[in-house]
Amino acid sequence: MKKTNPKKLEEFIRVDHAGERGAIKIYEGQLLALNTIVKNDDLKKKINEMKEHEQEHCNFFESEIKKRNINPTKLLPLWDLLGLGLGFGSTILGKKATMLCTASVEEVIDEHYKNQIDQLENDEKNLKKVITKFRQDELDHKDIAYEEGATKKGFYSLMDKVIKTGSKFAISISEKI
Ligand SMILES: [Fe+2]
Ligand SMILES: [Fe+2]
Repeated sequence: MKKTNPKKLEEFIRVDHAGERGAIKIYEGQLLALNTIVKNDDLKKKINEMKEHEQEHCNFFESEIKKRNINPTKLLPLWDLLGLGLGFGSTILGKKATMLCTASVEEVIDEHYKNQIDQLENDEKNLKKVITKFRQDELDHKDIAYEEGATKKGFYSLMDKVIKTGSKFAISISEKI
């Protein structure tokens, strides 16, 4: 049986754990704004639902980290802070920005998970299955975001680029440290 590169495997789990935790933090930041200065109960409900999926994703990687004895990224506190800030900031800017934040991040994650799925061999069948399921959840989140008004027109295209660049940067660092 072909084996998955062990170094890659460790990087995958470390970065996915960081990413799913970051996703929770982004939604927490958005909910913080929605519980204080922004009033939109419908949006709040949608974000809460997506956050529950992220919690499920994060719990899975949390247990994988423990089971496989992998060090989580040292930058968790930084990603927590930036995630909260991004979530809060995007929600202050309005519903379009709130939803674009989800769309932009999920577009990066879609590629990221696809890339991992391609590199996981049959010795990691279950992990591959789980990541494939999570990837579908993220694609559903992306669809919800566009249905709810995410747009890349004008100013938002700049915001999309900034969020994508930041997310990719966070991914490449969290794989390594
Ligand atoms: Fe997720
Ligand atoms: Fe998601």
